[in-house]
Amino acid sequence: MKIISVVGARPNFMKIAPFIKAIETYNAQIPPVPSVSSVPQVSPFSPVPKIEHLLVHTGQHYDDRMSKTFFESLNIPEADINLGVGSGTHAEQVGNTMMAFEKVLEQEKPDWVVVVGDVNATLACSVTAKKLNIKVCHIEAGLRSGDMTMPEEINRLVTDRLSDLLLIPDRLSGENLRKEGVPENKIAFVGNIMIDTLEANRQKAEKLSIENIIKSNLIPDQPFNLAPLSFNPESFALITMHRPSNVDRKEVLVPLFNFLVDEVAADMPLIWPIHPRAQKMLQTFGLWQKALQTENLILLNPVGYHDMLRLNMGAKLLLTDSGGLQEESCVLGTPCLTLRWNTESRYFT
Ligand code: UD1
Repeated sequence: MKIISVVGARPNFMKIAPFIKAIETYNAQIPPVPSVSSVPQVSPFSPVPKIEHLLVHTGQHYDDRMSKTFFESLNIPEADINLGVGSGTHAEQVGNTMMAFEKVLEQEKPDWVVVVGDVNATLACSVTAKKLNIKVCHIEAGLRSGDMTMPEEINRLVTDRLSDLLLIPDRLSGENLRKEGVPENKIAFVGNIMIDTLEANRQKAEKLSIENIIKSNLIPDQPFNLAPLSFNPESFALITMHRPSNVDRKEVLVPLFNFLVDEVAADMPLIWPIHPRAQKMLQTFGLWQKALQTENLILLNPVGYHDMLRLNMGAKLLLTDSGGLQEESCVLGTPCLTLRWNTESRYFT
């Protein structure tokens, strides 16, 4: 069997890592195929073939800090094919991915395409595969926010509608799919693959020093003094924000930013590993200099997987609009203030 799995953006990498490991483990326990001459004429056993697997990176996230570092730290083999799609509007990203992925599929002719999560790569590659009559498997199927203004919700709905095998992380996702009429034989409960990655990496993350994480990722030109943290390293709040609904509109971002500066950072150090989209919008709306100069606001470049896990473990409070971090904080026991009007982690009627 030949499988092509697809990643495109940061939250995909921790979801694909256990899947690739599972293929490697499966292939390792298959005995080598005997040479033709050593196979008896009439054999009771036909040799079990290994899974042939190719990893495609669409290149939606391309900065080393948003992509390469995750491959290295999660031991994901380098992508066999990188489509180099990069930034753009949604239509550009999806369209460019589809055109490039179609060529890959025509050449490689896989039996299955496996997509994860809900980013533009997920949508683009599942549509492309289905149009070539190739089977699609969606890992993390069935999540719903009920909010059609979220690009990710559109990506999930289309991908789930097209998929032949829908692997669900939790029972509620299964209920969502059944309500949409997905037949039972297409749905399989496999648990939350991203939490498999968390559990596999928890111990490594625990050993990291928060002070070192800050020092090695700090964005220059900030007045922040590490002294209060070295006194009590668990006395900080952590924030991440990247959703267009929070960062792209001035009337939303300005009050959110003021809340962070005037309320949260006034109480305790606030660590912000900043997403490129959020940084760009703070600059666009003239808030970047204030962010740099706010004493208790610690701006970091996007941090690696283990660094983020350690920060999440240590934080007194997490503020986030990320779906993945909400789930991780739940497992780690970190109180989470979700910066959205809705979330996937509930039963959607
Ligand atoms: C995407 C996903 C979102 C996911 C998030 C995690 C979609 C629709 N959204 O949102 O579900 O939670 O990733 O990060 O797929 N940029 C860089 N360097 C990079 C990547 C992006 O500078 O490596 C810039 C781009 O130029 C763009 C902005 O960041 O201006 C946003 O990138 P984009 O891929 O459009 O979506 P995200 O907001 O990252």
